[in-house]
Amino acid sequence: MTAAPRLMPASPLLEQAEDFLRLYHREVGYAGGQDGLEARLETARSELTRTGHYTLTPGELTHGARVAWRNSARCVGRLPWRALEVRDLRHATHPDEVFAQLLAHLHGAFNGGRIRPVISVFGPGVRIHNPQLIRYAGYPRPDGGVVGDPENVALTDHLRRLGWGGGPGSPFDVLPLAIEAGGEVQLYDLPAEAIHEVPLTHPDCPALGALGLKWHALPVISDMALEIGGLDFACAPFNGWYLETEIAARNLADQDRYNQLPAVARALGLDTSRARTLWQDRALVELNVAALHSFDAAGVRLSDHHAATRQFVRFEEEEARAGRAVRGRWSWLVPPLSPATTPVWHRHYEDGDESPRFVRGQAAWVKLQRPERGCPFH
Ligand code: ARG
Repeated sequence: MTAAPRLMPASPLLEQAEDFLRLYHREVGYAGGQDGLEARLETARSELTRTGHYTLTPGELTHGARVAWRNSARCVGRLPWRALEVRDLRHATHPDEVFAQLLAHLHGAFNGGRIRPVISVFGPGVRIHNPQLIRYAGYPRPDGGVVGDPENVALTDHLRRLGWGGGPGSPFDVLPLAIEAGGEVQLYDLPAEAIHEVPLTHPDCPALGALGLKWHALPVISDMALEIGGLDFACAPFNGWYLETEIAARNLADQDRYNQLPAVARALGLDTSRARTLWQDRALVELNVAALHSFDAAGVRLSDHHAATRQFVRFEEEEARAGRAVRGRWSWLVPPLSPATTPVWHRHYEDGDESPRFVRGQAAWVKLQRPERGCPFH
């Protein structure tokens, strides 16, 4: 058997660049049609040969970030992927400048409660240690319990080693940001006006409101790299808006997070003596009712699992019309509350993230307790 004649193997980066530039041409298009594409491929090739690197145009970066969202197999909220606002901050590499831009991101994304999906793409050498811009501290107690969010105990400890003096010690102390740039790490406190939180109340159970539960309005993932055409943007924090189950069926409910179902059940006057009374299930539903009710009352955008999964099916239909296959991770797409009442339960998905995509690397400083648990939708 003779080997098939082969052309010189292209560098993997060049291949990935070409794949992406072709995708961009198919979906957006270069001026001048096929000639425009050939010309663009040629500039990328020559830049790569000269420097080992190539530079995306602002238009390519924007589309690449949107497609990375469209390709996120674990995300049920992808329908509005075209509306992602992309902030091209590739020139920003100084930590003070990064922090100022993060404040602008938080402000523009919150948008008075009408939350907009936004991504900020920073320059080389920048990393944010926090997995999200807004995270609550977790302080271990001598009895083995935790004040605050048990998920963030290691992060809290890391920030203290970096010099953070600690917060007031409430269950909801917002952590400072650790911004690394050019090998140096600096801590920044988020000012109160950058953090919007919604206190949870229930439409007909005042005792639930008296528990003092709340959550922040914006989920801004800050530890995933954005990969486009073989290029990695290590600091590219992005946000959508919350789905009520993320807050009320997981963050506040999980036994290894805020573990609030027993307190909620007591507030509701349920019989908690046996699991068979389904007190956990009933408390879970009412806590989700409280989240939707409270965010609505505060004028802050929050999706519910019925609307979100219906929209996901619309996304699948749109993608099918565009001739593209949708990948999905079923266990992340189905909501953790009443899953079989939603259409995704009954559908089948092929897993896998295609490029452009978001990738979570192992943070240098952490032996992250549960990497799979930084879960967008559970
Ligand atoms: N599940 C994460 C949290 O509860 C947020 C992940 C992103 N979610 C989103 N709706 N974009 O904080």
